[in-house]
Amino acid sequence: MIETVGIVGSGIMGSGIAEVAAKAGYSVVLRSRRQETAEAMVAALEKSLTKQVERGKLAEEEKAAALGRVRATERLDDLADCDLVIESIIEDLPTKKALFNDLDRVCKDGAILATNTSTLPVIEMAVETGRHHQVCGVHFFNPAPAMSLVEIVRPLTAADETIDAVKEFAEKCGKTPVEVADRAGFIVNALLFPYLNNAVRMLENGTASRDDIDAAMKGGCNFPMGPLALLDLVGLDTSLAILDALYDEFRDPNYAAMPLLRRMVTAGQLGRKSGKGFYDYSR
Ligand SMILES: NC(=O)c1ccc[n+]([C@@H]2O[C@H](COP(=O)([O-])OP(=O)(O)OC[C@H]3O[C@@H](n4cnc5c(N)ncnc54)[C@H](O)[C@@H]3O)[C@@H](O)[C@H]2O)c1
Repeated sequence: MIETVGIVGSGIMGSGIAEVAAKAGYSVVLRSRRQETAEAMVAALEKSLTKQVERGKLAEEEKAAALGRVRATERLDDLADCDLVIESIIEDLPTKKALFNDLDRVCKDGAILATNTSTLPVIEMAVETGRHHQVCGVHFFNPAPAMSLVEIVRPLTAADETIDAVKEFAEKCGKTPVEVADRAGFIVNALLFPYLNNAVRMLENGTASRDDIDAAMKGGCNFPMGPLALLDLVGLDTSLAILDALYDEFRDPNYAAMPLLRRMVTAGQLGRKSGKGFYDYSR
């Protein structure tokens, strides 16, 4: 049974998943490479929960209880007693593989190791460990506290018990799990990213302006945000990594990242997290 959940990575997604798990009643160990960053995550979590209390969405006692269940650390060894560890670090396969190797060494026997990767082959991480059958994908969406879907990704090696335990975890977090085979992009990103990439193409070739592309998809399809605003929310570096992984797997030209997207990432224009992307967030 899953009681203690480790989260590795203190970015947008790691923070969101930590909030979801703590509110659902799990003990959470947050691991970042630097203690200050791990502690900053807890401070940000406190701020987010305080906002929810102010809006009447959470009781003060629930906030205190959730915070009391969270521990911040820079030491990987502190994940030793976790029943489930979810890695949510940079979307880079060699980095993730090295982390799975380390997690396999420090985590107790029987612990499930999961990745929040958006596109990378989960099997590549599973085979880095001596517990292939206890590795799977658990793909949350951004922002994790608000989005109801979790894709449970089943690599060829995963045991049914692993998939069932992670599904149960997602449900207890108040999410709707769907199961998907280990193919780049899973369900949502395989369908979503050709659309986002083609929005960049339209902007790049002058078909329409940024504002008109976004307004068109909001007004014409009833989407809550336009594709360029959504790319800024996801992060342009993460989006580029997703497209590159999709292209590597399928060689479909719709997945070939637009030059403008690549140039913006090189320029450090990563979207909301850097203050500038297709939109300006510095003010
Ligand atoms: N952004 C999204 O919309 C979204 C949605 C679902 C899943 N994901 C996935 O979640 C994961 C994290 O994405 P994010 O959006 O939170 O990214 P982010 O850029 O906000 O955070 C990345 C984290 O990785 C850490 N990191 C960077 N280099 C590292 C290294 N060499 N070793 C260890 N840690 C390192 C950073 O310190 C940071 O804490 C990725 O696998 C991404 O594909 C992202």
